[in-house]
Amino acid sequence: MDEYKIKQIEEGLTKIEFPEFDKVSSDAPVFYNPHMELNRDLSILAIQVFQKQEEREINICDLFGGSGIRGIRYKNEIEGVGNVFINDISELANEYEQHNIELNNLENIEVYQHDASMFLRMKRGEFDVIDIDPFGTPSPFIDSAGYCARRNSLLCVTATDTSALCGTYKEPCIRKYNAKPYKSEYCHENGIRILAGFVALTLAKYSKYIEIQMSHSTEHYMRIYIKVKKGSKKSDESLNNIGYISHCKNCLHRQTIKGLATTLDEKCPICGEKLIHAGPLWLGPIQNKEFIEEMIEETNHKKINTKKQALKLLNSCLTEADAPATFFDVHTICKSLKVSAPKLDLIFDEIISQGFDAVKTHYNPLGIKTDANIEDLKNILLDFSKE
Ligand SMILES: C[S@@+](CC[C@H](N)C(=O)[O-])C[C@H]1O[C@@H](n2cnc3c(N)ncnc32)[C@H](O)[C@@H]1O
Repeated sequence: MDEYKIKQIEEGLTKIEFPEFDKVSSDAPVFYNPHMELNRDLSILAIQVFQKQEEREINICDLFGGSGIRGIRYKNEIEGVGNVFINDISELANEYEQHNIELNNLENIEVYQHDASMFLRMKRGEFDVIDIDPFGTPSPFIDSAGYCARRNSLLCVTATDTSALCGTYKEPCIRKYNAKPYKSEYCHENGIRILAGFVALTLAKYSKYIEIQMSHSTEHYMRIYIKVKKGSKKSDESLNNIGYISHCKNCLHRQTIKGLATTLDEKCPICGEKLIHAGPLWLGPIQNKEFIEEMIEETNHKKINTKKQALKLLNSCLTEADAPATFFDVHTICKSLKVSAPKLDLIFDEIISQGFDAVKTHYNPLGIKTDANIEDLKNILLDFSKE
């Protein structure tokens, strides 16, 4: 440890030290990314809500510890936490994790040096919360998480391989998530649904099923908070949420269909052009209103530096909770119609006055989640252009 110049930072109520580096990268001796503070703050809120809902002491596994910041913050800043297990394959990371535990005067935190999957296999059933925050894709670790996860536990999953999940590169998505993506205005939502579908299908092997509490796509990553439950019948029923989203690049129509081995329409029902398909993916809920409301309430009881940003995101996710899958991007539709875009608020007012629902989405400031279809929206935008 002595060979490095040390940097100290503070997040929430916790101090963390790690070797100073020039650029955030997986080559840093011990990884720390300041841009993930929001992710860590939201995790504190989500795990606290989970702990309160369960009304019991919880044990937490921080599977990819790095500097130890997650596990240490969870023990230091969440009520009702019993033991915390911090794991990392790097010996140097382990040294800093131990150092940071002492720096914060904490007890009941153990540090381990194992491959993440091996660690989960060794510790089957010991954790109430498993936090998976790897470099890139979480996909190689989901099977072991499914094996390890207890009944009524919380699985927190980060994915930073957004180019695969969003369809910029198709093959890696097929390889890692066994699902086909496509690039579209709403590809980040599709990415979350592909990741969730992969988790649901993997956990079903162990007769476990998922209930997503909150999910978001922010900057370079996606994050999902998932309650894991157990039961073969319920797991079978839960897989009825697996399906496909089909998209027409010509007229921008999109449609969902549930079923793993279902028949997909080849042609767009509106313009007759060829449809492209993404899936299998999760078509069930990806936000839980009650859970998010409790996360919002929890911001009053925690010291988090990203409070403003966290509240904005949580309120947006709350509004989206009952909205249908996918959203429309006003500029993309206006571009296809060759008209200029009216003010967003006016469009929302008009959609709602025509009897549809319409809400904003955290994925895109110009996005509209609505039960109106593409033809309804085009008619509304064309009418504006005539004014
Ligand atoms: C993205 S960093 C973790 C960041 C940390 N969770 C945070 O919030 O700052 C990923 C960490 O996983 C560790 N790692 C990489 N491959 C691993 C594996 N197969 N098993 C366990 N740890 C691994 C790396 O040493 C690195 O510290």
